[in-house]
Amino acid sequence: MELLQYFKRLKWEFLFVTFLIVINAGFLTLAGISSANALSAVAKLKAERFFMWVALMGGAYIFYAIVNCLVNVEQTRLAQNVDKLIRNDIAQDLSQTSYSGFHQQTVATYNSWLTNDITTINNFGVEDFMMIIRQISEIVFGMLTLAYFNVSLVVTVIILTIIMGVVPNLFSKILAKRSLEYTHANERLVNSINDVLNGFNTLFLANLPQTIVKKINGASDDVKKHALNYSKTAGITQAITNGLAFISQVIILGQTGWLILHQLTPVGTISGAQFFASTIFAELSGISFNWQEFKSVKPIIEKFKTVPLKTVHGALPIDFKLSNLELDKVSYQYSGQDKPIFENLDLDFKLKNKYILMGDSAAGKSTLLNLISGLLRDYQGKIEISDVEYNQISDRDLHDQITYLQQDPYIFTASLEWNLTLGRQVSKAKIAEVIKECGLEDLIAKLPDGMDTVLADQGKQLSGGQKQRVAFARALLRDTPIYLLDEATSALDKASSVQLERLILTPKDKTVIMVTHHLRDEVKQLADQVVDLNELKKN
Ligand SMILES: Nc1ncnc2c1ncn2[C@@H]1O[C@H](COP(=O)(O)OP(=O)(O)O)[C@@H](O)[C@H]1O
Ligand SMILES: [Mg+2]
Repeated sequence: MELLQYFKRLKWEFLFVTFLIVINAGFLTLAGISSANALSAVAKLKAERFFMWVALMGGAYIFYAIVNCLVNVEQTRLAQNVDKLIRNDIAQDLSQTSYSGFHQQTVATYNSWLTNDITTINNFGVEDFMMIIRQISEIVFGMLTLAYFNVSLVVTVIILTIIMGVVPNLFSKILAKRSLEYTHANERLVNSINDVLNGFNTLFLANLPQTIVKKINGASDDVKKHALNYSKTAGITQAITNGLAFISQVIILGQTGWLILHQLTPVGTISGAQFFASTIFAELSGISFNWQEFKSVKPIIEKFKTVPLKTVHGALPIDFKLSNLELDKVSYQYSGQDKPIFENLDLDFKLKNKYILMGDSAAGKSTLLNLISGLLRDYQGKIEISDVEYNQISDRDLHDQITYLQQDPYIFTASLEWNLTLGRQVSKAKIAEVIKECGLEDLIAKLPDGMDTVLADQGKQLSGGQKQRVAFARALLRDTPIYLLDEATSALDKASSVQLERLILTPKDKTVIMVTHHLRDEVKQLADQVVDLNELKKN
């Protein structure tokens, strides 16, 4: 079971909580024995003994309360650490997946994994498992005590236990299925909420804010339906086990009465047997239900394992020397599209040359850059860098060579400086130089904390042009031999875009492929070649 692996990784904490739980079951048992002995003492009119047992019973309950408090805290610590480990594992997988692997699920789905699903694992996995430990301890102590009263009681308990174990197991598969369906409904809810909230501006301007209510209500109904389905199955399972537990208690009570009437056990046993029988059977019904719930966590953790790991592991040869980048008869078709975007495309980008890539909207310019940057790897034909095919080069090695400035740069909720360096170590002098080159000085002067100002909500406080300047500066700071730019200055005025484009096209040692909509003469002069994708696709 996957979750047990996590307990194993947190062995000492797990053992400590288990220890506390077992101790506590001991106190509860002591209270039960004291109560039985107190009753036997009072039946024999032995006052001193009676009060001793009553005091012991009180003491046991007080210790029980104190340790219980400790159990709560330590169990929360354990649960939080399990959560942390699971989140860490998901994050590790996401950090090691490919571009297409990551995009097999939406961001909202990952969101749901990392929040809702973790809560479910916490409630059904960790909590239920610890409850099972408590229940087992109480049952074992209870059985021992019953054996001390009269062995025949234990025999009955064991027979009844077997019956109680078998019945709810019949429901386990369906319970696990319902639980998984419920987590999928939660994913859909988060996806819908994200989608409709991200579209707030559009809906607001179209006078359709009610759509937010409609979409969220629709998704809520879906979750509600699956929560109820789960609850129904769980409820039936629990009802059956509870029913069996009550019947079993009555049987034990009857047997104890018979034993007392035949003077085979003291009178106090009636209280003890009742106490322990109710504990044992309540815990038994609890165990079988908790066990079903615990098992329902398994498919959730398995779902997390569906993030595909990277498939390309090849590394560049040690004596790798960067030269040309070539596309040889490359065809590409998005899955679900009926036609390829390119067929047998041949392109040759020479080392240190500057290319401007043009083409109609939707011609496939961004797709081409996605191929060259190694994001899309399911193409046909060959893409080679210095004669090494891309399927021999890991993403990491490729991105050491290539900086790709995409069409809609992302601004993180972090300081402007972090947004430029992405947390890498870069000298202050270098940052200052790039800021100046990219015309960010004015912006920084206006921001309340300058470079330390936190840009929130995807850089909402920046204009489209300012965001592009930030992204441009970020790209320059990476300083790789190859640059890919996708309409990187589309939101800037003519003078500013010429200034930035010149910045990237001037350095002699860089290979640059730049997609642009407006080809200005000042920029065209700096290029070695203008590639027209429309023309290329005709051939
Ligand atoms: N992820 C995708 N899945 C399916 N089709 C896509 C995807 N991305 C782009 N396309 C399609 O591929 C075509 C080319 O898109 P794109 O490369 O973005 O064009 P351009 O950058 O030249 O405007 C468009 O018709 C677009 O609908
Ligand atoms: Mg594009």
